[in-house]
Amino acid sequence: MNSSRVVPVSLGAASYEIRIAPTSLGSIAECADWWKGSSQAVIITDANVEVPYARQVAEALAEDLEVHLLVVDPGEPSKSTATAVALWECLLETGIDRKTVVLAVGGGVIGDLAGFIAATFARGLPFVQIPTSLLAQVDSSVGGKVGINLPAAKNIVGAFWQPRGVLIDPDVLETLPPREYQSGLAEVVKYGVIQDVEFFAWLEGNAQPINARENGPLVHAIARCCELKAEVVAEDEREVTGHRAILNFGHTFAHAIETVTEYGQFLHGEAVAIGMVQAAQLAERMGRVDAEFTSRLKQLLTIFDLPTVAPAGLDTDELISAMSRDKKVEAGQVRFVLPTKLGHVELTSDVAEEDLRAILQTRG
Ligand code: NAD
Ligand code: GLY
Repeated sequence: MNSSRVVPVSLGAASYEIRIAPTSLGSIAECADWWKGSSQAVIITDANVEVPYARQVAEALAEDLEVHLLVVDPGEPSKSTATAVALWECLLETGIDRKTVVLAVGGGVIGDLAGFIAATFARGLPFVQIPTSLLAQVDSSVGGKVGINLPAAKNIVGAFWQPRGVLIDPDVLETLPPREYQSGLAEVVKYGVIQDVEFFAWLEGNAQPINARENGPLVHAIARCCELKAEVVAEDEREVTGHRAILNFGHTFAHAIETVTEYGQFLHGEAVAIGMVQAAQLAERMGRVDAEFTSRLKQLLTIFDLPTVAPAGLDTDELISAMSRDKKVEAGQVRFVLPTKLGHVELTSDVAEEDLRAILQTRG
């Protein structure tokens, strides 16, 4: 199996490459075509990733560029207006110019935040993604969605700002805590369900080496997810046709669970795992898929140590009310991404409340 891969993202003049290679962080300077003409680089990272990864990138770039390393607190609260203001002020004080490249070294929080800073400062700076969590490597670093949260709404302030390139070094996953790794695997499973039944079957057959974080299978899984996401993004970059919404399979349920549990109980991928099962159960109840679909999905998520059942005690009305604030709501209708078979999903608002309530009350 190849140990390094390049995945193109085709977006006309904004096209770029995702380069996936073990031990590539230290040779980031080989990607200099991504920041042609820049004399300065700003690396944005968090305190968990700074040592060794962001420092390693800083050292590798220091021969050619003046490098500034900006470190924020780890975690979702850093995707805030307060952190954005602090970073803008820092860039101003540093005296960077309009060709300065911004590099995100971290998980999805850092990618979204640094991308937002790159999109907005001086009306836009070149941007490079160096994702270090599995979720960021298979999902958030690809496709150009960047942004921050407001206290009452996640990801509500942002932009589409494509990176010049994405560099993925799977070796950094060695230090990712197990729950964070498993959370990323939920998004990996999602791609199989929504777009690629063969990939789903491949995951079923390779779950053990994936759980063991073996390099070859891991590179294959990351590359396949990036290819599948790149296909969707190339077709509907700005989520205009609705096609990009298929990436939100399971997410309407997941966001409702995250909201009702006040973001304290589940990591995003854990909520997505439960949400995908609920979407499958809803589709099964509506006669769109058979029972085998749901049981294969549950089985794979279980092998990846992910939850498949919502906790007892969640209030159905609160969940439905949270769903009505979902970003996919159009003309007052909640839209669901529902499967028709493994490898294919559809966006629909044709869901009876009775069916939805029945699924939200299901335990098991
Ligand atoms: P995260 O960035 O908070 O990273 C998870 C944790 O792992 C953090 O504590 C981080 O410091 C740590 N970490 C990261 N890499 C590490 C490594 N190699 N070794 C040790 N620790 C490491 O969270 P995440 O799950 O990566 O991303 C979640 C964010 O991504 C959310 O804000 C979500 O909204 C966003 N997201 C964006 C998109 C998009 O398309 N832009 C898509 C999905 C999710
Ligand atoms: N994670 C959803 C998207 O990128 O559109």
